[in-house]
Amino acid sequence: MRNGVAREESPRRVETNMLARSRGWYDSLSPWYDLLTAGQENALRAAAIKALALQPGERVLEVGFGTGRALVEISEAVAERGRVWGVDLSRGMARVAQRRLCSARRTSRIGLACGDALRLPLCAASMDALFLCFTLELLEAAEIPIALGECRRVLRRGGRMGLVCLSSEAGSAAVNSIYTWAHARWPRVLDCRPIRPRDWLAASAFEVSARRSVSLWGLGVEALVCRPL
Ligand SMILES: C[S@@+](CC[C@H](N)C(=O)[O-])C[C@H]1O[C@@H](n2cnc3c(N)ncnc32)[C@H](O)[C@@H]1O
Repeated sequence: MRNGVAREESPRRVETNMLARSRGWYDSLSPWYDLLTAGQENALRAAAIKALALQPGERVLEVGFGTGRALVEISEAVAERGRVWGVDLSRGMARVAQRRLCSARRTSRIGLACGDALRLPLCAASMDALFLCFTLELLEAAEIPIALGECRRVLRRGGRMGLVCLSSEAGSAAVNSIYTWAHARWPRVLDCRPIRPRDWLAASAFEVSARRSVSLWGLGVEALVCRPL
């Protein structure tokens, strides 16, 4: 990564089977991901980025950037002087995102890295803002506080974080329950599940300053802006 924000990954890091499975799953999904997910998700992502009120010149990180749709919008918001970084586990996703950035002529202000949300390859207090969209709820319960701790670490004092997340506190309780059941039954295919994002944020000492809840075909989604306390 550029501008001195890279942090060395330990070569001796032991990768868990779960991590390898998740990476393999998103590698195989990457060519089709944009076809499988569109419509309402795009509008929600755009509104969540707008709610972050990004300013020209800011430094922003997206964790779990997928095919890079948000990266393009974020780079527009921070303009020429701003810088954007993305960290994603999947090399396949990173390839698709890189192609998108090339077509949008955005490669000069965006740096991508393949890495883990539990160990962000960035220096402490190096970012003005963070963005996570449909990523936190993929993690195991024990991993969520670690990932949020990493988000805190890389955010500067007074920085903010935008989070879009499947939520059991929005949408239809029946649809959320069916989805949670299906996730437990087929965890490899339905790897995410509705969580209670505000509880997780409070437990990691983040204060929510804006909240929007929507329903995607009955499934609850919350879009939150929060700040470390
Ligand atoms: C459901 S997709 C969402 C992608 C994108 N944010 C969007 O809204 O379209 C989740 C993304 O998170 C990535 N991911 C999964 N586990 C991760 C981890 N532990 N660290 C970093 N990225 C991860 C996947 O490779 C995938 O690209």
